[in-house]
Amino acid sequence: MNIAVIGSGGREHSICFKLKQSKQTNKIFCIPGNAGTSAIAENINIDVLNFKSISEFLRNNNIKIVFVGPEVPLVKGIKDYLEKKGFFVFGPSKAASRLEKSKSFTKQLCKKYKIPTAQYKSFNSMKGVNEYIKKMNTPIVIKADGLASGKGVSICISKTEALKKCKEINLGKFKSSKKFVIEEFLSGEEASYFILSDGKNYKFFGTAQDHKRIGEGDTGPNTGGMGAYSPSSIITKKVEEKIKQQIIEPTLKGLKKLGCPFVGVLYAGLIIKNNQPKLIEYNIRLGDPECQVLMMRLKTDLLKIILACKKKQINKIVINWSNKKAMTIVASSKGYPNKQSKISEIKSTQKILLNNNQYLFHASTFKKNNRIFSSGGRVLNATALSKNLKSARDTCVKMLKKINWKDKYFRKDIGWRAINS
Ligand code: AMP
Ligand code: GLY
Repeated sequence: MNIAVIGSGGREHSICFKLKQSKQTNKIFCIPGNAGTSAIAENINIDVLNFKSISEFLRNNNIKIVFVGPEVPLVKGIKDYLEKKGFFVFGPSKAASRLEKSKSFTKQLCKKYKIPTAQYKSFNSMKGVNEYIKKMNTPIVIKADGLASGKGVSICISKTEALKKCKEINLGKFKSSKKFVIEEFLSGEEASYFILSDGKNYKFFGTAQDHKRIGEGDTGPNTGGMGAYSPSSIITKKVEEKIKQQIIEPTLKGLKKLGCPFVGVLYAGLIIKNNQPKLIEYNIRLGDPECQVLMMRLKTDLLKIILACKKKQINKIVINWSNKKAMTIVASSKGYPNKQSKISEIKSTQKILLNNNQYLFHASTFKKNNRIFSSGGRVLNATALSKNLKSARDTCVKMLKKINWKDKYFRKDIGWRAINS
């Protein structure tokens, strides 16, 4: 069977890596892919938002199954478009994607179904903002309502800063929306909980913890994620029951009632304190870099899972996970997330041994004349599976140290909370 994977990050490289292990997989096409995916799939240079060209390509290459990695094509309706043409898209519809597209949509759903989350208020303009902020405790969380590639959230220490952030969004800092949400700050530890749903039933699809800040010790500005590990050490059985009953199940029920059942992977970003999970946000896709560690631990054939989803029979399959621990460390280009990075050559990647216990996933890389280049941002993900997190981390660090790339930056403390406890 031929499959198309949409996207070009480390997440999509790890999806290709996993799909490649399936006996049912014939050929994998990655649209548009990166230097890493080109080694295991065929890269196809089509814009992920050019649904018409994607559809023609799928038809001409006998591809029936499409795995969508990033949120933007989903939010713009790639599933609705391609499914009308007869393809199966593993991912949610445009209507169900509102869970990630709009913070106020999700907050309304939380209110209706009493899903535990931070207190909040949505605003369209600056009217009433000052009064609302005055009543709050600090820190205060300000969020742009629409998609902002992980840059739409500010944790403000003072009320003055909070007011400034609201003004910036309202003046059009983010193209996606001028609306914003003012939210109570939740303290606790963050974890990611994944499920997959076929629209009828759902199954647990792993846990992970991400490190969003650029600096060691979780300091500095937020990024898309600088490293992750799986499983999460704070999601105990007791906490998991609460996540399912208080958060996941009412959400899936609510979407069904709205006429847009969820198909694909739902990622709940949570803050956990005193064994009580609270929802910070939903993503309608696998996380990046969380996906890389999940794919390392997943033992069940990924294509089989996708096909079960297509038939609305995920309740009939068992999804198995390795008991080992997985970690991924992101190497970004120096200066990320602030400075625009330049193109630079990455050498010695061939020195790294690749197998099912250690793998170098590529994100922002491309090949030219058989040489590999970084195009900036988050660039490589050294990923390892091991008996414990410390040895997984040692492997990842060793892998990255072997790489000869002048712009290389990575954190050496991923998993510090779990490793030190
Ligand atoms: P989001 O884009 O909603 O995931 O937010 C990005 C990051 O901001 C999260 O991963 C958290 O670290 C932080 N964050 C968001 N909302 C809150 C909140 N209400 N309280 C504390 N931290 C938050
Ligand atoms: N690593 C966070 C995300 O994918 O949203």
